[in-house]
Amino acid sequence: MTAAGLVSYRAFDNGVMDAGSGAPYDAWTHWRTDPTPVGAVGAAILAASPHNQQGWAFRVTAQAVDVFADPTREMPMTDPLRREHHVGLGCAIENLVLGLLARGYHSEVILMPSAADPTHVASVTLTSVEATSSSLHDAIGDRHSNRGPYEHGQVADAVLGELAGPAGDGGVRVHWLTSTAEKKAFSTIVIEATQAIIEDRGQSEEFFIRFRNNRDDIDRFRDGVTLDGQGLAPLTLTLAKLLPAYSRAEGDQFWLDQTRTVHTATAAAFGVVTVTDADDPRLRLAGGRLLQRVHLGATSRGLGMQHMNQVTERIDREHEQSLPASFAPRLRELLPAGVVPLVAFRLGTPVRASRPSPRRPLKDVVL
Ligand SMILES: Cc1cc2nc3c(=O)[nH]c(=O)nc-3n(C[C@H](O)[C@H](O)[C@H](O)COP(=O)(O)O)c2cc1C
Repeated sequence: MTAAGLVSYRAFDNGVMDAGSGAPYDAWTHWRTDPTPVGAVGAAILAASPHNQQGWAFRVTAQAVDVFADPTREMPMTDPLRREHHVGLGCAIENLVLGLLARGYHSEVILMPSAADPTHVASVTLTSVEATSSSLHDAIGDRHSNRGPYEHGQVADAVLGELAGPAGDGGVRVHWLTSTAEKKAFSTIVIEATQAIIEDRGQSEEFFIRFRNNRDDIDRFRDGVTLDGQGLAPLTLTLAKLLPAYSRAEGDQFWLDQTRTVHTATAAAFGVVTVTDADDPRLRLAGGRLLQRVHLGATSRGLGMQHMNQVTERIDREHEQSLPASFAPRLRELLPAGVVPLVAFRLGTPVRASRPSPRRPLKDVVL
C-alpha cells in the first residue's frame, strides 16, 4: 500500500470523518423521543460510567424500573472492591429518575432492595405526576467527560455550593479543594497514583484492552474510552487517528503527561465525594447520584468536568493486595474528619467542547 493509501485507510478505519456519529452514538440524539419508562432508560444509559463499561441492566414494567449490576462488566484490577462499579450505577439511577419525572413519573427509589441478590441495586416504583423537566434533565444529552484543558481562573464558591447541594445522609457530600495549597497537594498524589497504575501491569493492561483505538472496535463494542474522548485539539486529534495506534507503554506515557500538564495543571477546583463508609453499596449508589447531579449542573452552567480516580483506584488495589497504604492517609489528610473519599473529579471552564462517547443499544441492556 502507498503512503497516501495507508493514511486514507487509517482515516477510514479510525473514524476521522465520522467521529461522534453513527449507531454507537445514536443514544445521544434519541434520548427524549420515547415518552414511556423505557425512554427514561434511554436517559439512564447516557450517565457517566467507569471506563465506559456501562455495567448496568434494567427491567421495565408499567409500575416499576429495576436496576441491576452487570458483573461481567466489572474491572477487577482497577476496581477490585467494585467501588466505581456501584458509583456508576448511581449515576445511571440519577439520570433514570430525572428522565422518569420528565415523562410524568414520580420515582420511589429503594437502593439494594434484595438481601438475596446483590446485583439488584435499585427498585424504582412509579406513580403518575405532572411531567416536569429541569435544567439537570435538559443537560443529560450535553454532558460528557471533558479531559481537555480548562481556562485559568476560579469557579465562584457560590457556584460550587449550588452544584454540590445539601449534604446527604451517610456523609454523602462534595468536599471542594480550591486553595492553591490544596490543589497542589491533590495534584501531587494524583500524579503519583497515575505513575503507580502504569507500573502495575494488571491495572495498566486492563485499561489498555478497554481503550477503543479504532472505529471498527467502537462499532463492534460500543463501550470503552476513545481518542475522541481525550479532549485533544482538532488537529492533534486528527493526527492521533492517522498515526499508528499507541502501544500500551505509549498510551500510559500519554496519560501520565496529560495528567501532569493538562488535567491537574488546569483544574479550577477538585471535588471529592465523601461518605462515612466507602464499602457500603447504598452510600456508593447515593454518592454516584450526587456525582451525576454535579456533572449535569456543571454542564448546564457551561463548566467542564472530568472524573479523576487514580488515587482511589490505588487505595483499593493496595488494600486488596495487602500492600502498605501509601495513598489512603494522604488523601484523608485533605478531607474533614469522620468521612472517607468515595470518588474525585476536577472542574473548570473548558477551553473546548467535549465529544460524546459510544453507548450500547437499549436492546442489550433492557432485560
Ligand atoms: C465512578 C466513575 C469513575 C470514573 N473515573 C474516571 C477517571 O479516573 N478518569 C477519567 O478520565 N474518567 C473517569 N470516569 C469517566 C468515564 O470514563 C466516562 O464517564 C465514560 O468514559 C463515558 O464517557 P462520558 O462521561 O463522556 O459519557 C469515571 C466515571 C465514573 C462514573
